[in-house]
Amino acid sequence: MNSSTSVVPVTIAGTGSYVPERVLTNDELAKFVDTSDEWITTRTGIKERRIAADDEFTSDMATKAAERALEQAGMAAEEVELIIVATITPDTPTPATACHVQAKLGSFSAVAFDISAACSGFLYAMKIAKRLISDGAYSNAVIIGAEKLSSVTNWEDRNTCVLFGDGAGAAVLRRSNDGEGRILATEMGTDGRHTSLLEIKGGGSACPITAANAESNLQTLSMQGREVFKLAVNAMRTAAETVIERAGLKPDDIKLIVPHQANLRIIDAIADRLSVPNEKVYVNLDKYGNTSAAAVAIALDEAHREGRFKRGDNIILVVFGAGLTWAATAIEW
Ligand code: UT7
Repeated sequence: MNSSTSVVPVTIAGTGSYVPERVLTNDELAKFVDTSDEWITTRTGIKERRIAADDEFTSDMATKAAERALEQAGMAAEEVELIIVATITPDTPTPATACHVQAKLGSFSAVAFDISAACSGFLYAMKIAKRLISDGAYSNAVIIGAEKLSSVTNWEDRNTCVLFGDGAGAAVLRRSNDGEGRILATEMGTDGRHTSLLEIKGGGSACPITAANAESNLQTLSMQGREVFKLAVNAMRTAAETVIERAGLKPDDIKLIVPHQANLRIIDAIADRLSVPNEKVYVNLDKYGNTSAAAVAIALDEAHREGRFKRGDNIILVVFGAGLTWAATAIEW
């Protein structure tokens, strides 16, 4: 799906994020799976990740992130017209996690639904919300990327369990007034030929979890990491280049790139391919690991609150995930 310039410009009025309290370090992981802090750090850049409490669900983290974004936007929960939650770890298969978030926020006038696009979900949600606002259907939206990946992690598989973490990030979108920033360009892509490279095999209609297969870990994430790595670099590079060009920007015009936080080596490769110095690329995966749909949303919020960009700066968001899916967004803040 391609983008076109919107009739009504849409701005990001606030961002928020939430991560659970419990920190799981590489050294702790190495006590129960055959790995080391040295391997995880050099291969991924991750030092620690957050793990949600047993009674802390995706909707709880999503709600806290949304509350912080609304507070920053100066908007009351009652004013929210649209809520989109991007997640692959919904509280329940149905109803949507967004319905739980709507109730927890008290945004009872809002239409609420989930989307499933793995790590690309937050930028897919941004594109959908932007279009619905610029078309006049709604005047604002809260979009959220939220994941409890610890609930779908095979803690005996060192290929995956060292990578993932829990958390949530959110943004408030609304019509842009004079002098405010706007979303300049968006791009989304999918290649369904690679569905098996990164997947949760069980728990859906193709392979329900039964007493017979309950011990096979089919409800957890499996990944062919090396293949995903190569495809991720190419897809993210192309998506970022597409929105940079569509927005009429040059590399020097970009204040900050906020990429999906999966692997520092992927992030470095993208910075290199885009000819952007590493200091213009935001990284927080050392603290949180890969939180799928939440990752770019948490990174955007932290970069914003740290003052890494200000009004008028151009920033690029770029993501990649299971599907395979990818997306990028150029924003004049
Ligand atoms: O968010 C969605 C997108 N996901 C991604 O972008 C992930 C992309 N992939 C990656 O980030 C990397 O491929 C990984 C971090 C997953 C793996 O790094 P790699 O450099 O591709 O390692 P590898 O899979 O080629 O494995 C190299 C070696 C293997 O041992 P042998 O066969 O060479 O003896 C693995 O068994 O490292 C071994 N290994 C580990 N060793 C210690 C794999 N995981 C671990 C581990 N600790 N946790």
